[in-house]
Amino acid sequence: MTRCLAVCLLIGNFLSPAVGNTEVSCVFMESCILPCSFQGGTDVVIHWIHVTAGDVQIHSYYYNTDQLAHQDQHFKGRTSMFKDQISRGNASLQLAEVKIQDQGRYKCYTSTIRGNKESYINLKINAPVERVKLEPVENKITCSSEMIYPEPELTWSTSPPSNMNFDMKPEVQRTEELLYNISSSLILSDPDVNYTCTVSTGSSRKRASWFKPISLVGSFAETVIQCSDSNTKITDLIWRFNHTEIILIQTRPDVPCTVSERWKQQVKGVSESASLLLQNLSSHHEGIYSCELSDAGETLISNNFLRIKESPETSENKGVTKGLVLGAVLVAVAAVIVFLVKRCRSQNNDQQGNTNQMEIKPLNTPGSG
Ligand SMILES: *[C@@H]1O[C@H](CO)[C@@H](O)[C@H](O)[C@H]1NC(C)=O
Ligand SMILES: *[C@@H]1O[C@H](CO)[C@@H](O)[C@H](O)[C@H]1NC(C)=O
Ligand SMILES: *[C@@H]1O[C@H](CO)[C@@H](O)[C@H](O)[C@H]1NC(C)=O
Ligand SMILES: *[C@@H]1O[C@H](CO)[C@@H](O)[C@H](O)[C@H]1NC(C)=O
Ligand SMILES: *[C@@H]1O[C@H](CO)[C@@H](O)[C@H](O)[C@H]1NC(C)=O
Repeated sequence: MTRCLAVCLLIGNFLSPAVGNTEVSCVFMESCILPCSFQGGTDVVIHWIHVTAGDVQIHSYYYNTDQLAHQDQHFKGRTSMFKDQISRGNASLQLAEVKIQDQGRYKCYTSTIRGNKESYINLKINAPVERVKLEPVENKITCSSEMIYPEPELTWSTSPPSNMNFDMKPEVQRTEELLYNISSSLILSDPDVNYTCTVSTGSSRKRASWFKPISLVGSFAETVIQCSDSNTKITDLIWRFNHTEIILIQTRPDVPCTVSERWKQQVKGVSESASLLLQNLSSHHEGIYSCELSDAGETLISNNFLRIKESPETSENKGVTKGLVLGAVLVAVAAVIVFLVKRCRSQNNDQQGNTNQMEIKPLNTPGSG
């Protein structure tokens, strides 16, 4: 289809060499202006034609009003003109919720008592990569990204670089809207490397990284799980248990995080660096804690395998055990985080007088401290 399009465009160019061919790029489902100007005057007639679709009429204007009786159904309710500017020679068309099918060559025909003019617009639509997902399935990880246009590329890499063969073809699917879904699965053959998957189309590129799991031993009373060494600015944070169960979500640093109902008694807070502070754990909380941190360009998923140190004490003795079971490093880290989280929680109490809030205030709330 694209090849046909290119040929049609070439022929079009050839037949009307005198008029300009303006390139316009728009984002899928957004609003888009197809520019067109003429000399202005009275008795204005404007016809907008989608040439690529077979010269279909998409918007006409004459007798000082829109004339939509012959408008192609596909464009119904999506076109408008800047009425107050038509007399000044602005015949630009606004096209709402642009679709992939809207791509191609458009003709803007204008006529006044002073004469006629035809100009051409070449419209390209793109749907940039929004998000790259990495999900574990048994001994594999699947990388996927959806609703992309034009056809994206997907590549795998490891750190450190390895001689693994990444040449498998990704699976590509076409949606009803003519967008592309792409995915690729990889067997986690080497547990000692970090995997990165990159999806790109045009100038849009996003990636997701999967960090090799770290083992740690936690205390049933209090445990800190760090998210990532990097100083990625948090825009989107999800902590998960055993890859599927969501523990907490924080969509923006200035919005309180939301702890899922099942984890309310275990989550004490989340630090500014996205570390998770847990309390009141038992052996069935052993498993994989993964932290998914995203910013505009990338998603980082770090995995921690948590074992809970066996405690013979009953719940009455928790206070005594607390501190004894923590390793020296953990104590230092925890102390800082406990302080920060406490601050954030007490602030929460002051403002809302409710200790059972599901939401935990972030630390960088204006006016804190
Ligand atoms: C026509 O008017 C619209 C709305 O003000 C403006 O965005 C556009 O740039 C104008 N186009 C031309 C060709 O003057
Ligand atoms: C893999 O990721 C971990 C966690 O971020 C990092 O500490 C480690 O250096 C990475 N390894 C390599 C080889 O890049
Ligand atoms: C592509 O992804 C979208 C968004 O997740 C989904 O709704 C759609 O069913 C997928 N289409 C195909 C053909 O896989
Ligand atoms: C710890 O969990 C138990 C039940 O699982 C609950 O009754 C208790 O209130 C929890 N303690 C705290 C401090 O949340
Ligand atoms: C979580 O995963 C670990 C290791 O894969 C497993 O031993 C444990 O039973 C799982 N826990 C739950 C509650 O599913």
